[in-house]
Amino acid sequence: MNKIKWGIIGLGNIAHQFAKDLALIPNAELSAVGSRNTEKALDFSQKYGAKRAYNSYDQVINDNELDIIYIATPHSSHADLTIKSLNAGKHVLCEKPVALNKEQTLQMVEASRANNKFFMEAFWTRFNPSVREALVKIRSGEIGAIKYINADFGFNIGIAEGRMIDTRLGGGSLMDMGVYPLFLSYLVLGMPKKILAAANFYESGADQQTSMILHYDTAQAVLHSSFISPSDMKALISGENGRIRLNAIWHETQSYTVIKNNHEVDYQFPTVGKGFSYEIEECHQCILDHKIESNLWSHDDSLNLITIVDEVRKQTGLKFSNN
Ligand SMILES: NC(=O)c1ccc[n+]([C@@H]2O[C@H](COP(=O)([O-])OP(=O)(O)OC[C@H]3O[C@@H](n4cnc5c(N)ncnc54)[C@H](OP(=O)(O)O)[C@@H]3O)[C@@H](O)[C@H]2O)c1
Repeated sequence: MNKIKWGIIGLGNIAHQFAKDLALIPNAELSAVGSRNTEKALDFSQKYGAKRAYNSYDQVINDNELDIIYIATPHSSHADLTIKSLNAGKHVLCEKPVALNKEQTLQMVEASRANNKFFMEAFWTRFNPSVREALVKIRSGEIGAIKYINADFGFNIGIAEGRMIDTRLGGGSLMDMGVYPLFLSYLVLGMPKKILAAANFYESGADQQTSMILHYDTAQAVLHSSFISPSDMKALISGENGRIRLNAIWHETQSYTVIKNNHEVDYQFPTVGKGFSYEIEECHQCILDHKIESNLWSHDDSLNLITIVDEVRKQTGLKFSNN
């Protein structure tokens, strides 16, 4: 079988983790990597065996050997780089959050449709084996109608500068981490009827921590993200007849627990590698099937999630300097 040829743009923290897992997939080839820095591109390409190393993103985008580009840059550049890549005839897997807002996301989806190229937000948790299995149980009614979700994602980043808190780059805990609890509530309960949110802020204007209530007709979710203190990083989904816990660190979990009648049963689903292989395999399958979006994390799913994020930002007052 022909290998699917990947390019990676932006060679930071997540690009390294992704490249390690990409190497675990037999029909994936890391063909090209692009950085703003020549030495970084060369080091990365040597470390992970990429065939070509470029010192600009445009060279990756215009590399005609590539099938798909993984975009691993700060959030503020996701829309622009995704649209350029799609217009250059590449499929795209773009890191979360998909973009800064719904308007940008609509443009990304439009570019995918116009070019008939696959595009997906890299919401890897959607493809995590424990999360998928837990969702099957939830949807089959194992714990009854869902009434309450409690999920958080917090740690003390211990720095007061850099990409994560730079509002020119879409910084703050909401966009880096808060999107995960929001994702879980959306995955299980869909679009909320009402959203309540409040945040504390850095001097930069980025949020230090954000608390959110998603209110539904018959359920509620209480969610939190933080850059200034650690949390348990467990997620609880509670139904009328029991509850399911996605065990820590829940967004990349290796197991879940069903708790019913004071009795706990653990279900272990250890991930292959760090857990990026599942979203990679989904990209491959969609490309081979000539699909422009995944059924599991569709364009509408990304649009709906960013619509929720937009409302949270409106309520907390989180503004980006370029948006
Ligand atoms: N799925 C996950 O689990 C996960 C985890 C962490 C992050 N993410 C997402 O992945 C994206 C990147 O996060 P990261 O933690 O990898 O960030 P990072 O370590 O700061 O790396 C981001 C890379 O983007 C490039 N870049 C382009 N313009 C930049 C700018 N103005 N400032 C800083 N870097 C710039 C740089 O690559 P070059 O120097 O090579 O050009 C940099 O190394 C974010 O959108 C984040 O939300 C996802």
